[in-house]
Amino acid sequence: MKKHSVVIAGGGSTFTPEIILMLLSEEGRFPLSELKLYDNDAERQAIVGNACAIIMKERAPHVKFSFTTDPKEAFTGVDFVMAHIRVGKYEMRSLDEKIPLKYGCVGQETCGAGGMAYGMRSIGGVLELIDYMEKYSPNAWMLNYSNPAAIVAEACRRLKPNSKVLNICDMPVGIEDFMATICGLKSRKEMQVRYFGLNHFGWWTSIIEKSTGRDLMPILKEHVSKHGYLHPSLEGHMDADWHSTYEKARDVFAVSPNFMPNTYFKYYLFPDYVVSHSDINYTRTDMVRDGREKRVFGECRRITEAGTAKDSTFEVGGHATYIVDLACAISNNTGERMLLIVPNNGSIINFDPTAMVEIPCIVGCNGPEPLVMGEIPRFNKGLMEQQVAVEKLVVDAWIEGSYLKMWQAISMSRTVPSVEVAKKILDELIEANKKYWPELK
Ligand code: NAD
Ligand code: LMR
Repeated sequence: MKKHSVVIAGGGSTFTPEIILMLLSEEGRFPLSELKLYDNDAERQAIVGNACAIIMKERAPHVKFSFTTDPKEAFTGVDFVMAHIRVGKYEMRSLDEKIPLKYGCVGQETCGAGGMAYGMRSIGGVLELIDYMEKYSPNAWMLNYSNPAAIVAEACRRLKPNSKVLNICDMPVGIEDFMATICGLKSRKEMQVRYFGLNHFGWWTSIIEKSTGRDLMPILKEHVSKHGYLHPSLEGHMDADWHSTYEKARDVFAVSPNFMPNTYFKYYLFPDYVVSHSDINYTRTDMVRDGREKRVFGECRRITEAGTAKDSTFEVGGHATYIVDLACAISNNTGERMLLIVPNNGSIINFDPTAMVEIPCIVGCNGPEPLVMGEIPRFNKGLMEQQVAVEKLVVDAWIEGSYLKMWQAISMSRTVPSVEVAKKILDELIEANKKYWPELK
């Protein structure tokens, strides 16, 4: 079997160690020759890189491993770029959350004004990675799961239409894991789904058991209408914040009960509820820094000091295997059916053909072949039209350096009550993002 050379961009990410363990555990179907980490923050990446070097030496000495901040070194001779960068890091994510909240609006990583601010930072970072890949490894593919995926994907469609970039999100994968548990299945891979929407903004229209064709929607509807996506056997696998998000799916489901919803509709359909349950002095960033970042970086430092990872507490990032599914689909032409963020192009018949939509695709060596999802109902379509306009306006604002387009984008979001509030949020976001955004005139 062909051995692959992979670079992980955003090497200093809190997700890197467990993704590396996942890649090693999947070598049976996706063998590696070389694994590199790339980041533009040498200090942050070294924390992760030093520990991963020990893990690699002990568990996969046959794979050449290195970490670097030099794009040429990182991107030369690779087959895949796996990209999970966070432009502006947690310092800026914190402001994305706290600035809108100050004006009584949802402050969230990818939803609402905070997500737009993050989008304005991410576009340039992701385009730069594509340029490096195309310069140093023109035959490589980029599997991008840097957020906010909807805005990044629209920027790729507009500015890099011929690049080999696939935008994918782990949110549907995570929810499908929960659905499988609720239905008593061992794995989400036992299900076959139909889904339509935008990233972090979509619905499952059909879920059947692959081997028998059994319709699983009745079980899921019954369960979600009472408990959201919560299930007793899943309780230990999430923190309090995610617990409330999975529970709130019950109320999200009630307004569109023919389909199973993505959990992030909570932010768009219940913004007042979200704001009243937020603490501006301690937002999700603070939770992630006190939780995942402390845990991961603490363990990395411990491994580096001990000089061994034999007793490491890192676990294989289980559901991240979707990244290997995608890489294998391309490398081995497996024809795997996966949800990807792709140009609509008629797949949702009564929706903008130029929208980047999240839909099932058959993936092979030439990339994704989207499936036809047909007509969608007015309620769902209306919500999507408003949200896709937001995402397109943000990309317009970035390309044109337009203050007006960014003001329109924030004004258009369901999470913002008025044009006046939108302006206040925008002016404060501009001040905070001076180092990262193009100048808006
Ligand atoms: P993190 O801050 O821990 O790591 C991100 C790394 O990216 C940092 O080390 C940072 O220095 C680096 N970086 C920033 N800008 C860069 C650039 N221009 N070039 C190279 N490196 C750069 O963040 P995290 O919490 O681990 O999340 C990483 C990313 O993955 C985020 O975009 C997050 O939203 C995303 N994510 C995506 C999914 C998904 O499936 N779509 C799931 C979880 C997280
Ligand atoms: C979050 O806020 O939960 C996201 O950053 C994703 C994660 O896993 O923490």
